[in-house]
Amino acid sequence: MNKLIIANWKMNPASEKEAEKLLIETSKKIKTLKDIDLIICPPFPYLFLFKKNKTTKIVLGAQNVHKELEGSYTGEVSVKMLSSLGVKNVILGHGERRKLGETDEFINQKVLTSIKNKVNPIFCIGESSRDRDGNFLSFLEDQIKKGLNGVTKSQIKNVVIAYEPLWAIGKNAQREATREEFVEVKIFIKKVISDLYDSKSAHGIKIIYGGSINSNNAKSFLDAGADGLLVGRDSINFKKFEALLDAIK
Ligand code: 13P
Repeated sequence: MNKLIIANWKMNPASEKEAEKLLIETSKKIKTLKDIDLIICPPFPYLFLFKKNKTTKIVLGAQNVHKELEGSYTGEVSVKMLSSLGVKNVILGHGERRKLGETDEFINQKVLTSIKNKVNPIFCIGESSRDRDGNFLSFLEDQIKKGLNGVTKSQIKNVVIAYEPLWAIGKNAQREATREEFVEVKIFIKKVISDLYDSKSAHGIKIIYGGSINSNNAKSFLDAGADGLLVGRDSINFKKFEALLDAIK
């Protein structure tokens, strides 16, 4: 099965010109690779660049969406707007947005709106710290149950779950997760999905890893059973992203 690589550009790069350059370079590179499905999630202002450059091998994603379809919501973007620009996936529940105050219930409403409007969620979960007794697993279970509340058995196959421990993401990351830590959580997520839905759903759901992924560690997570990777910093520097793609091809 193809590996899913998701580039979360976060609030980068700083200008349209740089964004277009990064897009064109990445687009050329991905055309040379097989067995990789690439989703890029740029900041909203750069979404139109993907239409302009007709990037056939890249699936377009977004970094956020509002729960309502239209109305008086200053500064927000609706799933219909995203769809009309060709967006197929949206990152929801990201740790950096939870830090801004998004609750499980709020994220759940966005998950439901997105699925209903055929934009598939990349649903992120992750604990802020680990404890030896494994209490963080109950925390993750809670995030899954609340975030996916109301998602039906026929809809769950359209959700990708990204395990992104907060201590492993972004500039202030302590370290990346180990393969063993990822595998443990992957098995745990499958168990939760199996209990919530059924074993077929648990078997089919894609579980990916994100947090300090680079060209040195990317392959080892895929070898350990990650269905894909959610990449932040190393997706906005083309040389680094190229090295990462080469490392896993
Ligand atoms: P980094 O790869 O920069 O650690 O970011 C991970 C992430 O948050 C992707 O969504």
